[in-house]
Amino acid sequence: MTEVCCPVFEPSAEAVQQAGAVLARGDLVAFPTETVYGLGGNAFDDRAVAAIFQAKNRPQFNPLIVHVPDIDAARALVEMDARALRLATAFWPGPLTLVLPRTPGSALSYLVSAGLSTVAVRIPDHPVALQVLRAAGVPVAAPSANPSGAVSPTTAQHVAEGLGKRVSMILDGGPCRVGVESTVLDLSGDQPVLLRPGGITRDQLAVHVGAVGVPVAMEEGAGQLKSPGMMKSHYAPALPVRLNALKAQAGEAFLGFGPTASGADLNLSASGDLLEAAANLFAMLRALDRPEFCRIAVFPIPDTGLGEAINDRLHRAAAPRPGDSAPCS
Ligand code: TXA
Ligand code: MG
Repeated sequence: MTEVCCPVFEPSAEAVQQAGAVLARGDLVAFPTETVYGLGGNAFDDRAVAAIFQAKNRPQFNPLIVHVPDIDAARALVEMDARALRLATAFWPGPLTLVLPRTPGSALSYLVSAGLSTVAVRIPDHPVALQVLRAAGVPVAAPSANPSGAVSPTTAQHVAEGLGKRVSMILDGGPCRVGVESTVLDLSGDQPVLLRPGGITRDQLAVHVGAVGVPVAMEEGAGQLKSPGMMKSHYAPALPVRLNALKAQAGEAFLGFGPTASGADLNLSASGDLLEAAANLFAMLRALDRPEFCRIAVFPIPDTGLGEAINDRLHRAAAPRPGDSAPCS
């Protein structure tokens, strides 16, 4: 028997208000959308976003989709050009996610976009999702509400089986109408690029924005990215990165972890808390990625729990890149 614990609520007006308050204060709520159930967290709150990765037990930080209730809320977060507005008018609310440049000065968590300067946004077409988003009053990051590696949930029961113990509330909105995740379209460059096929087809998109490209890494028809790392879906600092550094060398910025990392320019978590470290990771890498340093040295991070995803990201950032010189000599 699967163990099911059960914070499952019928989506009454009270439950929806409560879910909004739970989200606003930084805890997690699973809610129905027209595609699949989402595991929602406050997208302004780095710790809430880190808690999403922790709950899903994802060994990697993939950028997440930010859900908003209307176009004005989207425009506060991302720069919507004429193409984006045409698509939004045609397909929102609905199963289309747009990847757009983040609005300068936006308070969105950098963990939401895995450090990138672009953000994926959508307005879901489900009355309960829209009510919850309005009640929360904050943008809500929400990947599918399943543990990493499991199939995406299309009923509240699925969510309860997979994540029941890890969320504060699950709102039951019945089975999802679409059943597969939204189409993801990258509009951050001149040419629109389909990053993930979904409910809205390329032909439907082309009516509004012309030809839609497919990333080189995507096998035609397979619907899977062979190598998501080839796309702009991963941030790496411009500076080289040195791992497992116990102290900084001359010219290095030093990113610490825990109470023993003395002399750190920034500390991911002085108390050694991996949730806090995950929450700070991308914002701190960005803060240290400055030309007055020659490299970013990073203190060792334990490879347990969220540490696995943190180390995955740091190892990618530290991998030798073409054109790297040895600027610290
Ligand atoms: O239907 C859906 O979209 C569901 C429901 C809950 O709304 N959500 C969902 O979220 O599938 P998630 O986080 O699992 O999907 C995120 C997708 C990934 O393919 C990710 O790589 C892409 O969006 N993505 C997000 N932000 C991106 C960015 N800044 N650049 C490129 N790709 C991005
Ligand atoms: Mg998923």
